[in-house]
Amino acid sequence: MHLAETSQKNDPLTGTQRGAILWFTGLSGAGKSTLAEAVAPVLRGRGRRVEVLDGDEVRLHLSKGLGFSREDRDTNVQRIGYVAHLLQRNGVLVLTAAISPYRATRDWVRGLAGDFIEIHVATPLEVCEARDVKGLYRRARAGEIKEFTGISDPYEPPLHPELTLPTHELSREACVARVLQRLEELGYLTPTGA
Ligand code: ADX
Repeated sequence: MHLAETSQKNDPLTGTQRGAILWFTGLSGAGKSTLAEAVAPVLRGRGRRVEVLDGDEVRLHLSKGLGFSREDRDTNVQRIGYVAHLLQRNGVLVLTAAISPYRATRDWVRGLAGDFIEIHVATPLEVCEARDVKGLYRRARAGEIKEFTGISDPYEPPLHPELTLPTHELSREACVARVLQRLEELGYLTPTGA
C-alpha cells in the first residue's frame, strides 16, 4: 500500500473514508455558517458525502422552542452533536455551525463522536459587533436582547482546537484552504494528487 494511503482513516470493510464532525464554534457573526457553506461544496467536489447543521436552521426544527439559557443552549448543542454523530459514523463529513459557547458541552460531543475536529472561528468581538450583520449586537447593547453571547453571556474559547481561523486576518479562500489542509493532515481527506 502506498504510504500516503496508510495514513488515511479508511473503513477496512467498505473502503470508504471515515466520517468526521467539523465543529465550527465562535461568536454570533464570526463567520461559522459562511465558512461551513464554503467548505461543503469543495468536499462534495472531492467525492465526499457532506451535511451541514447550522445553528440558526436547527433552531427552526430540531431545537424549535429552545431559548438561550445555559440549559437550552446545552440541549441545542447536544442535539446537534447527537445527529452529527449519527451521520459521521456512516461516513459523512458533518459541518456544524453553532455558537456552542460552553467548553464542557463541546467536549461532551467530542467524547460522543471521537472523530471531532474543533474549529475555532476566532473573529474578535469588536469585529463581529462592527459587522453586526443581523443587527443583534446593537439590540443586545440596548438591552433589548438578554443573555447575548459576548455581551451579556459567556463564550468559552476552545483551549486546544484542531484549528483556529482568524477570519479578520484571512480571506475566505484562505480559511477554506486551511480547513482542507487540516483534514488532510488528520487523515480524513485524501490529498489531491495522492
Ligand atoms: S447556541 O449558543 O445554542 O450554540 P446557536 O448557534 O444555536 O446558539 O444560535 C445563535 C444565533 O441565534 C445567533 O447567531 C443569533 O442569530 C441568534 N440569537 C438570538 N438570541 C441570541 C442570544 N441571546 N445569544 C446568542 N445568539 C442569539
